Amino acid sequence: MHGYPYCDIVNVAIPNRNIPVRISGSGIPVLLLHGYPLDSRMWDRLVPLLASDHLCIAPDLRGFGSSVEEAMSFSLSDLADDCSMLLSALQIRRPICVCGLSMGGYVAMQFVDRHPQQIAVVILTNTRANADDPMTVANRRATATRALVDGVPAAVLPMLDKLLSPSTQATQQQLVDLVRSMMLSTRSSTIAWAQLAMAVREDFLNKLHRWDMPVTCVAGREDTIVPLEAMRQMAAEFSGSELQIVENSAHLTPLECPNEFAKIVRKSTFAIRGS
Ligand code: MLT
Repeated sequence: MHGYPYCDIVNVAIPNRNIPVRISGSGIPVLLLHGYPLDSRMWDRLVPLLASDHLCIAPDLRGFGSSVEEAMSFSLSDLADDCSMLLSALQIRRPICVCGLSMGGYVAMQFVDRHPQQIAVVILTNTRANADDPMTVANRRATATRALVDGVPAAVLPMLDKLLSPSTQATQQQLVDLVRSMMLSTRSSTIAWAQLAMAVREDFLNKLHRWDMPVTCVAGREDTIVPLEAMRQMAAEFSGSELQIVENSAHLTPLECPNEFAKIVRKSTFAIRGS
């Protein structure tokens, strides 16, 4: 695989579907898995900082971003299998770094579980290893229904204030606009399918200690969607994993603090340089 000079979006064919992917740079492959209800654009500020020595692969997961509408429900393991097939289709044969944020972190956990041979390093950002409690499941079903009945803005906009820190919201209007536009461009069906998929996701908390690859956990200090305590609890499951706390960041750390995030990625991938 040769270097990609620009953050191109290309459609990559895997069995049964095409996956739109932004690919940029060359070097250590890093698979960047976006959160909900977002798409691969959430990595736009990070990728230019990594592309000199990383091959950044940022797919739009099923139904999200510029992918086609999904007529059928999907699970988080379907999304992980799509990513595995994507790497094969791109002929990436060396083990990669998988980096997931929130819902992307849930997909990363499935990926590690199902395709460990493709992974050398894991970065889990503002995400959870535990399954949902009954109240969260009920809220997810309500959000799915709201998206289908009342429309996308009613389902997603209540979340907007929690994604970026108050100081980012006050000073970086362009970022707020980008996040709002990603949220509002998500289809109602995707919102419904993704909420239902997350509601039944597997509990990984007791499985993490079995992972034998290096793991970095990253937490935005001001994240209220995944509070620091949940990240600490997850990080404690990995022997030798250090929790990296990023100041002045809420849920979307790679967008809010791309320089700090790029340093963390570089430190994490250092171990597989030259492999
Ligand atoms: C996300 O940012 O991906 C979502 O907050 C994940 C979730 O709803 O659990």
